[in-house]
This record gives sequence, C-alpha cells and structure tokens, in this order.
Amino acid sequence: MKTLTYIVVCLGMLMSAALASDVVAERKANFKANAGAMRAMGGQMARDDFAGIGAGANAIASWAAKMTSYFPEGSESIGARNEIWSDFETFTALAQKNQDAALAIAMAADAKDKAAIQQAIQTLSGTCKSCHSRFKN
Ligand code: HEC
Repeated sequence: MKTLTYIVVCLGMLMSAALASDVVAERKANFKANAGAMRAMGGQMARDDFAGIGAGANAIASWAAKMTSYFPEGSESIGARNEIWSDFETFTALAQKNQDAALAIAMAADAKDKAAIQQAIQTLSGTCKSCHSRFKN
C-alpha cells in the first residue's frame, strides 16, 4: 500500500512538471506570435492592408485576454520573474492594458485611420515594454 501511494505521488509530480513545461512552451509560442503580428503591421500599413492589421490586433487582444491563465502557480521559467506571482494583480492589470491597446488598433483599422493606427501601435508597444521591464527576464 505504501509503495502504491509512493507511485501515485511520483506520477502526480511528474505529470504536473510536464503540464508546467507545456504551459511555458505555449505562452512562449503565443508571445512569439504576438511579436510576429506586430512586425507584420509595418508592411500592412504600407500596403493599406487594414484587414490584416485588424486581424493581427485581434489576435494580440485575444492572447492578452487569456495570457494570465498561462502563468499558473508553479510555472516558473527562466524568462518569467518571480514578481509575477508575488504581484499577480499588477501583472493582470498590465495584461489588461495590453488588451485595450490591441483593441484600439483593431478599431482604428476598422475606421481605416492610419494616423490613429500608428498612434495605437505606439501605445501597444509601450504596454509590451512596461510588462517586460517589470516581469520578464
Ligand atoms: C502582462 C505582461 C506581458 C505583456 C503585456 C507582454 N508580455 Fe511578452 N512576455 C511576458 C513574460 C512574463 C514573458 C516570459 C515568459 C516565459 O519565458 O516564461 C514574455 C515573453 C515574451 C517573448 C519571448 C518569447 C520566448 O520565446 O521566449 C516575446 C517575443 C514577447 N514576450 C513579446 C511580447 C509582445 C510583442 C508583447 C506586446 C504585444 C508582449 N510580449 C506583451 C510578459 C508580457
């Protein structure tokens, strides 16, 4: 019986370690996609590809909406600072600002307003940086 308990506990630990590494890989992939979507916006602006800009902005917004759930307790990584978990409230607030800024791009893209898109991209970029400077290594 003791051996069985031991095996079950070990399996549980292995599984949560595997899940934690999955969640780290997934959040990194999503952040990379974010950076790709932002990079693409320069060319999309030059081509007046407002639909492309809107799609990229909405993708960033939907990742921002769920990003904090990809940082469960115990999912420490080299890139993530411990302050995420000691100050999850600020982390969450910065994710919200990121989402708001991405939605502002999508709205400006709908309106085909290039000056507003440019402005909103600057704001979005600022929200990436303000979270990174505080919570990312
Ligand atoms: C609320 C906080 C927060 C916001 C907002 C945020 N990031 Fe990050 N980002 C992180 C953290 C934390 C990591 C490190 C994750 C890890 O390594 O486990 C990260 C990692 C990254 C990485 C590296 C991924 C890798 O492969 O290691 C890139 C690229 C990135 N973010 C781009 C962006 C871009 C672009 C934006 C804005 C559109 C953005 N991030 C917004 C917190 C944030």
